[in-house]
Amino acid sequence: MLALLLSACLASTFVLADGQLAQNPIIPGWNPDPAPIRVNDTYYLATSSFEFFPGVPLYTSKDLVNWELFTNVLSRPEQLQLYGTPTTGGAWAPSLSYSSGTFYLTSMTRWTYDPVAHVWPRVSWVTSTDLITWSDPIWGEPWGIDPQIFSDPVTGKNYLNLMAPNNNEDRLWGIWQCEVDVASGLCIGEYRSLWNGTLPVTPDARPEGPKMFLKNGTYHLLIAEGGTDLLHRASIARSQSPEGPWESAPNNPILYNGAPDNGNLTIQSTGHGTMIDTPDGDWYIVYLARRNVNGSSPLGRETFISNVEWQDNGWPVINYGRPVLLSEPVEGLPTKIRPSSKTYDFSTTDLAAQGWYTLRTLYTPIYSVARMSDLTAYSPSSSGALLLHPNVFTLSDRDVPAAILRKQTSLNMSFTATTLPIPENLPRGAALGISAYLSELVHHDIGIGYCRNTTTNASSSMCVYTCLARNGTEEYNEHPFEPPATAMRSVDLVIRAEPLQYKLGFRYPDVDGQNSGDIKWLTEFPSSWMAWAPEGWFVFSGAMFALFASSQGRPWGAGSGDVGFSTVEEEFYEERLGDYDEDGR
Ligand SMILES: *[C@@H]1O[C@H](CO)[C@@H](O)[C@H](O)[C@H]1NC(C)=O
Ligand SMILES: *[C@@H]1O[C@H](CO)[C@@H](O)[C@H](O)[C@H]1NC(C)=O
Ligand SMILES: *[C@@H]1O[C@H](CO)[C@@H](O)[C@H](O)[C@H]1NC(C)=O
Ligand SMILES: *[C@@H]1O[C@H](CO)[C@@H](O)[C@H](O)[C@H]1NC(C)=O
Ligand SMILES: *[C@@H]1O[C@H](CO)[C@@H](O)[C@H](O)[C@H]1NC(C)=O
Ligand SMILES: *[C@@H]1O[C@H](CO)[C@@H](O)[C@H](O)[C@H]1NC(C)=O
Ligand SMILES: *[C@@H]1O[C@H](CO)[C@@H](O)[C@H](O)[C@H]1NC(C)=O
Ligand SMILES: *[C@@H]1O[C@H](CO)[C@@H](O)[C@H](O)[C@H]1NC(C)=O
Ligand SMILES: *[C@@H]1O[C@H](CO)[C@@H](O)[C@H](O)[C@H]1NC(C)=O
Repeated sequence: MLALLLSACLASTFVLADGQLAQNPIIPGWNPDPAPIRVNDTYYLATSSFEFFPGVPLYTSKDLVNWELFTNVLSRPEQLQLYGTPTTGGAWAPSLSYSSGTFYLTSMTRWTYDPVAHVWPRVSWVTSTDLITWSDPIWGEPWGIDPQIFSDPVTGKNYLNLMAPNNNEDRLWGIWQCEVDVASGLCIGEYRSLWNGTLPVTPDARPEGPKMFLKNGTYHLLIAEGGTDLLHRASIARSQSPEGPWESAPNNPILYNGAPDNGNLTIQSTGHGTMIDTPDGDWYIVYLARRNVNGSSPLGRETFISNVEWQDNGWPVINYGRPVLLSEPVEGLPTKIRPSSKTYDFSTTDLAAQGWYTLRTLYTPIYSVARMSDLTAYSPSSSGALLLHPNVFTLSDRDVPAAILRKQTSLNMSFTATTLPIPENLPRGAALGISAYLSELVHHDIGIGYCRNTTTNASSSMCVYTCLARNGTEEYNEHPFEPPATAMRSVDLVIRAEPLQYKLGFRYPDVDGQNSGDIKWLTEFPSSWMAWAPEGWFVFSGAMFALFASSQGRPWGAGSGDVGFSTVEEEFYEERLGDYDEDGR
């Protein structure tokens, strides 16, 4: 161990053998606020889901490195009401705990993010005995964010820990606590200020994400501080009682990759962690961080892991006290298995189980899955089809457009969706397409609709169009839709995502599966737009790919033909990112 430690300290970058992959991020694509729990030899981990439905994905793993989606916890409208929820509102910061045969998943919803509306974040929890079926929410009495239920194994008392303001006027946030009745959500007894963290108590300090745990008779309180952006960090305190008083660790912050010393590292915004032990007694911290590429992070905050060692003085040290480098293997963990491609052929009806989400809670169905053999006029090799049921809303509306979305999980990948044959009688104004989507404020679409430019054809010809919607502006371009007979009016729409730029293009597939044409690229844009928030807003999620259809303000109407997609293919390429993000500085 000592030899390894020394050589690791001397090396500034790590050279991985051919085929060997760094483990981090362990869950790529936006997955902030990771909350793991171990059940015997199996790990489960929940992350924030914001305005997407179903909410709070729960991943599972046997080795802490390779994770797959297990279920989505908030899967019924009764559990998560996202109506008119803007980007970054919705379901935040879950915690998982277990007590006497019951799992608790605490979380927070904020319906909107506008202080003028006087709508505050509400904390709640759902319970389960099998991690699959979850109860309706029980609403906690205090208001705040990042709730955790800590069940003290010594006394059997349940505590609700959360980040909350000292009062409604000053808004000085800190970690607060009450003993809680988990059945009613009401506080029992004193509501106490637990710890304000290590930074000066100002509205910017934002001590948050309390994760209390008991280790060898000592209670530990791990928190995040410094705000969600580049000053984000993790600090810890300990006590002989879950009610305090708390002693701050001498080596705080115990995890921090930021300026002044490490602001040029690719991994930034490290924090909001949970410590977890393995059946063998090894300790790790699972936390969120960004991969900064040229100063921007299009995939948002992903889930990372580092090892933890407990010193003789009882305090933990993360990653040997060094900043975390992207290429650095994590001691004691296996290598990561990454796919080279994935195909979705809509042969299953449970799209949520495959990581597809809708925007907000559905009022009416917006899609269905059909068997290709049930559709007329088309018989490609694909076995299923996604039928979108377009409504009046678009990706720019804070409503439920007919769209399903999935997270972008690599900084170097392509996303290709093959449409069903485009009906000859699309309603006026209708569109079917795919999008590199960040929020209702920023999305980059490529689709099929009627040509807007009537100079060449005043009647009803269709175009492949691109529309870059961002910062309140729209940049629109179009190209005639002229599929060869062999394409049977279907088209492949393509997003090529690279660390620094995205490209939108199309090609006509040959439905016999032979010789698809070359991709015609129509437009490109810098990836920094996938990490951009207007003044006064935030980016808490990250890049997604959407499949959408819309009749853009008017009812779709009967008899307009089926619109949708037959297959989606993702291809993943190598991600050669350095440990340092020098370009952006
Ligand atoms: C964990 O292991 C114990 C002992 O083998 C067993 O009784 C228990 O059911 C397991 N828990 C779960 C959730 O699998
Ligand atoms: C945290 O700060 C608030 C606001 O200044 C204060 O009221 C509270 O007593 C502090 N809590 C602790 C544990 O120091
Ligand atoms: C647990 O705590 C006791 C008392 O503080 C200490 O003597 C012992 O060394 C600790 N054990 C471990 C494994 O840290
Ligand atoms: C990163 O920044 C630190 C502190 O400013 C500096 O010492 C170091 O040389 C930089 N490293 C690289 C690779 O730019
Ligand atoms: C419309 O099409 C004509 C003929 O192809 C072209 O000259 C013109 O620039 C186009 N206008 C726009 C706004 O794209
Ligand atoms: C105009 O559009 C119609 C309907 O798509 C098509 O039949 C016709 O050939 C087009 N005319 C020209 C000049 O492009
Ligand atoms: C966004 O729009 C605002 C208002 O028009 C403008 O001041 C700002 O520069 C724009 N930002 C970007 C990145 O284009
Ligand atoms: C992305 O993948 C392409 C195709 O394999 C490769 O040429 C390129 O170097 C990769 N970019 C990065 C940053 O790894
Ligand atoms: C990287 O960032 C620098 C500084 O903002 C900028 O000048 C440069 O154009 C960016 N490079 C790319 C490829 O976007």
